[in-house]
Amino acid sequence: MKHKHLYLLLLISILPFLTSCDLSTGNNQTEFSSKKDQIRETFLDSLMQEMTLEEKIGQTVLFSAGWNVTGPTLDENYIIYLRDGMLGAIFNMHSAKGSKEFQKIAVEETRLGIPLLFGYDVIHGHKTIFPISLGEAASWDMEMIEKASRIAAEEASSTGINWTFAPMVDIARDPRWGRVSEGAGEDVYLGVQVAKARVQGFQGNDLSKYNTILACAKHYAAYGAPIAGRDYNTVDMSERELRTTYLPPFKAAVDAGVSTFMTAFNELNGVPASGNKFLLTDILREEWGFEGFVVTDYTSINEMIPHGFSKDEKQAGEQAINAGVDMDMQGGIFLRNLETLLAEGKVSEKRINDAARSILDMKYQLGLFEDPYRYIDTQREKETLSKPKYLEAARDMARKSMVLLKNDNQLLPLSKNKKIALIGPLAKDDREIIGSWAAQGDRTGTAISVFEGIDDLLGSDKNIIYAKGCEINDDDQSNFKQAVLAAKQADVVVMVMGESHQMSGEAASRTNLDLPGVQKELIAEIKKTGKPLVIILMNGRPLTLEYENKVADAILEAWWSGTMGGAAIADLLYGEYNPSGKLPITFPRNVGQIPIYYNAKNTGRPYNPVLPHNTYWSRYLDVDNSPLYPFGYGLSYTSFEYTDLILNKQEYSFDEDINIRVTLSNTGKYDGEEVVQLYVQDLVGNVTRPLKELKGFEKVYLKSSESQLVSFTINSDDLAFYNLDMSFKAEAGEFKVFVGTNSDDVLESKFILK
Ligand code: GLC
Repeated sequence: MKHKHLYLLLLISILPFLTSCDLSTGNNQTEFSSKKDQIRETFLDSLMQEMTLEEKIGQTVLFSAGWNVTGPTLDENYIIYLRDGMLGAIFNMHSAKGSKEFQKIAVEETRLGIPLLFGYDVIHGHKTIFPISLGEAASWDMEMIEKASRIAAEEASSTGINWTFAPMVDIARDPRWGRVSEGAGEDVYLGVQVAKARVQGFQGNDLSKYNTILACAKHYAAYGAPIAGRDYNTVDMSERELRTTYLPPFKAAVDAGVSTFMTAFNELNGVPASGNKFLLTDILREEWGFEGFVVTDYTSINEMIPHGFSKDEKQAGEQAINAGVDMDMQGGIFLRNLETLLAEGKVSEKRINDAARSILDMKYQLGLFEDPYRYIDTQREKETLSKPKYLEAARDMARKSMVLLKNDNQLLPLSKNKKIALIGPLAKDDREIIGSWAAQGDRTGTAISVFEGIDDLLGSDKNIIYAKGCEINDDDQSNFKQAVLAAKQADVVVMVMGESHQMSGEAASRTNLDLPGVQKELIAEIKKTGKPLVIILMNGRPLTLEYENKVADAILEAWWSGTMGGAAIADLLYGEYNPSGKLPITFPRNVGQIPIYYNAKNTGRPYNPVLPHNTYWSRYLDVDNSPLYPFGYGLSYTSFEYTDLILNKQEYSFDEDINIRVTLSNTGKYDGEEVVQLYVQDLVGNVTRPLKELKGFEKVYLKSSESQLVSFTINSDDLAFYNLDMSFKAEAGEFKVFVGTNSDDVLESKFILK
């Protein structure tokens, strides 16, 4: 059997290690790991020597098995390429049975039996679906985020998947762009923490384990900054902005040991990401020392032709491989052109060898050469998917992800004996609730709807009067009457409103961020009944909610909250859990303010609300500069008070720690969690500096009337920025420190760095 041959190769590589490694020495751990590396290198060298040029090119080829369609083209010939040994990986296949079938062909029918990688978009869960990534980020709970990714890896790996196209770490500040739903929002510091947590969750500490999978930092780079918020559109920015805002989460992923990167669709400063040597070689490999492999996004090499960067496929292939791309997703360009490009001297053999080897190395680290079927076990698949403890974790993450935006007169939590009118297009929804990029999430109705969640929690639906009222996105108002009737019979109205899962995510940019269809009109009709009004939002991005903010007594941002979403929403509605989420992205008053984010610059004419008569300020004539809800904003059923912001000194040298502490008190009647946020402002710089930058946060649980000291330690490294000469370092001068409950509501202090 072909695989025996590879096994022999492995054995030959290990033999010298078995005879010479002296485990009695003091540094045997280091010796052991360096010997392991030697074995790996010996094996890869030997395998590469055995491979033909075609077989090496075959490793750089990735095609979709078409079980999901995640891009504009499909190529059914992938099985032919597979049998010819011209396929390194398959994606969009997700069952142990299916993977086994294809792995068997790779291992037993090709000349060398090199196993396949199986990739899939396991973004926020595999079968058990967690809140969308933007919702997970709103939990500000890195342990929970890591745990959610770990569970996703457990489930995905049980179905034969050994590579996820996640985490998406694109910073995004424009909610017109539908893919804000997939990331961690607008802030660099939060984005960095989330990137680390998710890479760790997917990859664990040992890739060769059957339940750890390759992660993939995407979309490299700056895909979240398309002009006008239109997906795939042009991205153009200074290198300073790129390095300050968009690259740090990618660098964090490298530092966390991410195995793969995915190039973005967009051009960056005139060069498409898949042909961008500055990004893929100069920064990623040479500056950051990335040792994994780079896969393109879906046919993005082919798309360098419409970009106007390549005259034909061959040139696109030449540009991509020479820029640093190692694997071609769905394009077939490496498959069709690399041999010719080598023959014409346009691509070096070394470059092709390096690309193939980087992929073989990841297969080695996954343990696929020892056991190509390691991730393929139908029994484990059956036992692993949708475990009760995974569903419980999904419910817990969903609870922690939701953000209480308004709660006038403490309307929430509701008492269980109140009669509620449950109204809205998403009130009984158990399909949209798992959101976009929901992998193998079940969209046939097994997710928990809000109706079910409340019914389960109350133990009956006798206190629920349900009326749909309208659809998500059409102009039919014929069911308004029935909804108004329901409202009139109730003590309180709970409306569940929002987007369909296709209205955020890829290729889902919107210029109008209001609630779609006639949802606002329905709210207006219900408001006329004068009943207390709660609005629950299910959406993948910030919406423009000025009207809703005016008329509702309470608003809960629930995002698409996943398989257990309805249960989690019920938990918050009735106070089983006290909301603790904080916005990871600014909610604008209207689309005209976009892009709007907290860490903006001051400008030379900052608007001063105290002097509104003075015309010449940086402001709008028709709307306030402030957002509707700022970054870091989120209420609780209890109240928290911040007092005594104290620094250990007033002046610091560059090598001293800056110790900051504040007293946090729970002054309300509920126990609850608060995300204490630390911001810093560098008042003067050799380039202008933002008004605030998040430099730390801590999620603290306090019982009612408890107090606690919360401390942060930062140093001059945390104050570094890209100077006028692009050096990355802090500059002496005056700084302000802010600590508070969101980016607007803070205590302030200051210090000098000298
Ligand atoms: C899509 C997405 C990318 C995804 C890939 C594979 O177009 O841009 O995020 O991982 O194709 O499905």
